Amino acid sequence: MKRYVIAGNWKMNFTPAEATSFINEIKPMIEGKNNCDIIFCAPYVTIAAAQEAAKGSQIKIGAENVHFADKGAYTGEVSAKMLTSCGVEYVIIGHSERRQYFGETDETVNLRTKAALAAGMKVILCLGEVKEQRLAGITKEVVSMQTKLDLAGVSAEDMKNVIIAYEPVWAIGTGLTATPEQADETCGQIRAALAELYGEEIANDTVIQYGGSMNEKNAAELLSKPNVDGGLIGGASLVADKFAAIVDAAQK
Ligand code: 13P
Repeated sequence: MKRYVIAGNWKMNFTPAEATSFINEIKPMIEGKNNCDIIFCAPYVTIAAAQEAAKGSQIKIGAENVHFADKGAYTGEVSAKMLTSCGVEYVIIGHSERRQYFGETDETVNLRTKAALAAGMKVILCLGEVKEQRLAGITKEVVSMQTKLDLAGVSAEDMKNVIIAYEPVWAIGTGLTATPEQADETCGQIRAALAELYGEEIANDTVIQYGGSMNEKNAAELLSKPNVDGGLIGGASLVADKFAAIVDAAQK
C-alpha cells in the first residue's frame, strides 16, 4: 500500500488555545490511520502549544518558513537552529504567498532550503505556476525551472529530507482545484525534472504532494493518481472533520 504525506498549512490562523483545541479534536479522528504521515505547519507562536497537544499521537508539528542565516540582524525571522532547538523537524519553504506578498524568489527559497537541510530538518518545498503561465501553456517549463533553481546545490543524499508540494497558484484558496489529471501530469513533470537532477530512483522516491483547494470531496481522486503522494492543505486543515476525511482518503 502506498504511503502518503498529508500536511496542513495553517497559514496565519490559530492562536495557541485554538491550536490546542483543534489538535485535541482531531487526535481521536485520525488514531490508527497509519498509512500516512500527518503534519501541521503552524505559526511560530502556536508551535509549542500544538506540540504539547499532539504528544502521544502520530501528529508532527512543523513551521511555515525559516531563514537562511544562523543568526543575526534579520528582524522578524527565525533560524533553523531556533526551530530544531524547539523540536521542530518539518518546515514549509517557498509557499506562493511568501513569493507573492513577501518578495521571496527562487534564490531565497534555495538558500532557505539549504539552511534547513543543513540543520537536519525536513523541507516541504512549494512551487507551482500562476494562472497566466498555465494559460500560456508553459506550466512544465515553469515547474521544471523552479525545481532546478530551488534545489540548486542540494545533494542527492539530502533529497530524502525533501518533500515537494506542487501548488498551482490559481488553485490556492480559490476553490478551484487542478483536475486529478492536471495534478498528476504536473507532479510527473516535477518528477522528470528531479530525474534529470538526481536520477530515476531518487525521483521516484521523492514525495510530491498536491496543494490547492484540496478538500474532503476531491482528495480521494487526487490521491489516487500515481504521481500524487500526498496533500498540502490550507483551508480544510482548519476544520477537524474535513482534514480527517482527507486522511481517510489516503487509507484507500
Ligand atoms: P487551500 O487548501 O486553502 O487552497 O491552500 C492550499 C495551500 O496554500 C497549502 O499550502
